[in-house]
Amino acid sequence: MRFEKKDILDIESLEPWEISMILDTAEGMKEISERPVKKVPTLRGKTIVLFFQEPSTRTKLSFDTAAKRLSADTHSISAGTSSIVKGETLIDTAKNLEAMKPDVIVLRHPSSGAPHLIAKRVKASIINAGDGIHAHPSQALLDMMSVRERKGKIVGLKISIIGDISHSRVARSDITGFSKMGAAVSICAPQTMIPKGIEKMGCTVSPNMDSCIEGADVVMMLRIQKERQGSILFPTEREYATLFGLNRSRLKRAQKDVLVMHPGPMNRGVEISSDVADSDCSIILEQVTNGVALRMALFYLVAGGNRHVDSH
Ligand code: CP
Repeated sequence: MRFEKKDILDIESLEPWEISMILDTAEGMKEISERPVKKVPTLRGKTIVLFFQEPSTRTKLSFDTAAKRLSADTHSISAGTSSIVKGETLIDTAKNLEAMKPDVIVLRHPSSGAPHLIAKRVKASIINAGDGIHAHPSQALLDMMSVRERKGKIVGLKISIIGDISHSRVARSDITGFSKMGAAVSICAPQTMIPKGIEKMGCTVSPNMDSCIEGADVVMMLRIQKERQGSILFPTEREYATLFGLNRSRLKRAQKDVLVMHPGPMNRGVEISSDVADSDCSIILEQVTNGVALRMALFYLVAGGNRHVDSH
């Protein structure tokens, strides 16, 4: 089977075999980052634009590193240093980028749907690096890669996701991805942070944190996204930590070989205690390492010549 997708916009639009192909390709890419010279010529002559209109540490550096390890040329623009501050629209900005013939545009944007909007208007491949509260597909793919690498499978696992589900694009993409690949996804959050109808995405809602964690193979913690909350949705951080924070005693309810994950950035002492975040069961930094290989795989599959050129 050939990977034919022009864009990576969300997990919903990927078939399970496409997800498996991305994870297999990423596994193969991982070894390149272990070499003394961490570079291969695969994307030499290709141009990748990193267009981030929201702050990022992991995702931006990871996409940039991935592109450079494949020998692509990268260029970076941000909202604050581009002509967006002079009133240029997203579509006009995208059309002007397109006029310079990039092969891939990686977009992070505060508005849900922004990458879908420009994907229809430009020939370059669009990779969604996080849009509003909608989707963060490369994060979910690297999460699936990290779990598959450690557990040898995804099907049949219990994945517990706890935190600000309402405002988390990571939660939406992970729920869709893990359930698509055969895992049982259980979520838990304060009532004010659970969107109505979330079960339709393929998860169950647990009434409290202890039942959510019970027997879990993977516990994924999410931070409270204060920057996206119109008003504060919980009384105090201390109360939140008591009811929804992960600590060693709570983690005892999970499987003995549980993996603890977090997409970052973490709020230590709020959603996760430091002794858990830094423990042997935590694979939080492995997620970051795998992010580079996973994004190398995405660039290779959309721009590496594997795809039919006429599918542009
Ligand atoms: N996981 C994630 O998206 O982190 P950044 O916001 O630092 O990119």
